[in-house]
Amino acid sequence: MYENLVLYFFSGTGNARNVANWIADTALEKNLQIELVDISKIDRKNIPAPPADSLIGFCSPTHGFNYPPVIMYFIFRFPKSNGNKIFLINTRAGMKFSKIYFPGLSGIALLLPALVLLLKGYKIIGMRPIDLPSNWISLHPGLNESAVSEIQHRCKRIAKSFAEKILDGKKNYRALFDIIQDLLIAPIAVLYFFVGRFVLAKTFYADSNCDNCDLCINKCPVKAIEKVDNRPFWTFRCESCMRCMNECPKRAIETGHGYIIGLLYLIDVTAIVWLGMLSSKYINLPAGLPFPGLINFTLESLISLALLVPGYRLVHYLIKLPVFRQLIEYTSLTKLKFWNRYRSAKKYK
Ligand SMILES: Cc1cc2nc3c(=O)[nH]c(=O)nc-3n(C[C@H](O)[C@H](O)[C@H](O)COP(=O)(O)O)c2cc1C
Repeated sequence: MYENLVLYFFSGTGNARNVANWIADTALEKNLQIELVDISKIDRKNIPAPPADSLIGFCSPTHGFNYPPVIMYFIFRFPKSNGNKIFLINTRAGMKFSKIYFPGLSGIALLLPALVLLLKGYKIIGMRPIDLPSNWISLHPGLNESAVSEIQHRCKRIAKSFAEKILDGKKNYRALFDIIQDLLIAPIAVLYFFVGRFVLAKTFYADSNCDNCDLCINKCPVKAIEKVDNRPFWTFRCESCMRCMNECPKRAIETGHGYIIGLLYLIDVTAIVWLGMLSSKYINLPAGLPFPGLINFTLESLISLALLVPGYRLVHYLIKLPVFRQLIEYTSLTKLKFWNRYRSAKKYK
């Protein structure tokens, strides 16, 4: 049916990379020529147009009910179609409790890129979520080895069967089964894109186990970690892909649950006071604006994000003080001994 496949992927902790590899294996079995492109390793500003006769695939994790910004920007810049067909995959937060598998939630993770690519002239022939183990260990401890292994093997079968169908010229729009719930949660995807991801970027810190090996800095797929005051410092470029936290050999990268809640509370109180003063003294908002609540919310979010920059920097310096460091470490859930990292994805290549 096809002679070659160009498969673009982005992956934080290896799930999306595994899916890309499984699909490439299936394509190889069918004697296709494969080009597997890790978009974090290429020049994303000058994207060469794929050959006219090639099938194109995209595979990425879901972040905040959407594709992460790094792959969305890539898709926005992607050249117009040469008559190519495309399929899209998102890996989601799968779970397994007892014998039951639980799926993640896509939101607009496939709908938005599909729309953009349709407008560029591509023909969408497949859209599918794949529920690999959740890697979001800021929210929950990493799944245990056996759950990870079972979910990975199950997903390998699902990915290969999807690839079989697509490569044989069939269509598969499994993602559209969830379209109602996906559209209902779409507003959260917008909030995540404009606010949530920036807050998450500032939840990471290196604890006292950090020996400055720079692995996190070198491995970050979006080059978001810098050295400030001789310690890793997370910038707003961070996609919260979890690679740094999961791969740190010293287990030194943590989520600061306590300090981020405290910081946001302080900022929120300040922002609200400022906003109140501004709106009453300087900005004479006309009564009856169509969305006064939304305008208020947007202003408040912008001020909060702006204050988060110096706030996070202050935390970064204060953490050198033993009392402050202990306070931050005691209020980080990820410091708990049972809070596993998610490190098993590599084994299932
Ligand atoms: C910051 C963040 C946000 C996430 N948001 C979602 C989400 O909205 N829906 C979902 O099903 N999974 C979500 N996940 C889970 C990942 O998409 C999932 O574990 C994925 O398989 C990871 O792929 P990777 O190993 O290639 O990075 C999120 C994970 C992170 C770290």
